[in-house]
Amino acid sequence: MSPRSQQREGQRQLMNGTTKSKDPGGNFPGNPVNIATDTVAGFGDEWTRFDQTSIGDAEIRALFEAYFWIFPWQNLPSNPTGFDLGCGSGRWAKQVAPRVGHLHCIDASAEALAVAKRNLDNQKNCEFHHASVDAIPLPDNSMDFGFSLGVLHHVPDTLGGIRSCVTKLKPGAPFLLYLYYAFDNRPFWFRCLWRASDALRKVVSRLPHGLRYLVSQVFALTVYYPLARSALILEKCGIAIRNFPLYYYRNLSFYVMRTDALDRFGTRLEQRFTRKQMREMMVEAGLEDIVFSDKAPYWCAVGIKSR
Ligand SMILES: C[S@@+](CC[C@H](N)C(=O)[O-])C[C@H]1O[C@@H](n2cnc3c(N)ncnc32)[C@H](O)[C@@H]1O
Repeated sequence: MSPRSQQREGQRQLMNGTTKSKDPGGNFPGNPVNIATDTVAGFGDEWTRFDQTSIGDAEIRALFEAYFWIFPWQNLPSNPTGFDLGCGSGRWAKQVAPRVGHLHCIDASAEALAVAKRNLDNQKNCEFHHASVDAIPLPDNSMDFGFSLGVLHHVPDTLGGIRSCVTKLKPGAPFLLYLYYAFDNRPFWFRCLWRASDALRKVVSRLPHGLRYLVSQVFALTVYYPLARSALILEKCGIAIRNFPLYYYRNLSFYVMRTDALDRFGTRLEQRFTRKQMREMMVEAGLEDIVFSDKAPYWCAVGIKSR
């Protein structure tokens, strides 16, 4: 399915109410609709299994920088207040909290939020909200910054989700966004490979959680690990690996591969966007001065709320 038709399918489900909240993890304030409940329940399971505590400091900082190197820290006011929409385990919030005044950690999964609370126990400037993106319990135009990494391609209406986030920002505040790319910077054969893997995802993500976990771990061991380490060897031999599948993981730990294999194959609603589509959505949501990262993971971009 093309990214456009995926987005239409998500929106169709939203209109039909087939993705409407059935409350997978507790009460949802605000009666949200821009939420895929099974997907959220899957993330609760994922972050409970992989709470990210066994990742080393150097690795987590490198992963964090891969997203945040384009973030305009220098332009924030002193002691800024902001939000992490879809905080999951709180792994990015843990890096951001020491640099800011106050951080609102928001997630639709009660289980994920429980993990984030544990991981951010020492961080007294974090506040936690069990809420969906379309019912963020913060006043409009109140936030000095916001970010949402790997979340809004898992909601039925991605543009609506970006709009909901931007509404909470003060004019002039930055918003960092990471959405799955549609392989628009890759060759045709790469997209074919993805289509095959996506067919697998559609099957695996419908299995019971325990089975999803098991299958994903087999993929991590038999596909992710060998391909990633082969990419590393090829790179060391001076061979170009830019289009080598899973080269992104070449220097990453097996734990990260295991987490991402479950994330990738255990998630029912996944949408993908070209860089052009992502820019258009960001502009339509009221962001300007958009800057894209030119490095993996794709696509990651920051925009400033129009004044
Ligand atoms: C792939 S995880 C990313 C977590 C975190 N941002 C990270 O990168 O580690 C996606 C997160 O978004 C949350 N989520 C999914 N739909 C949501 C919605 N409608 N509103 C708020 N959070 C949502 C999930 O519960 C999950 O924790």
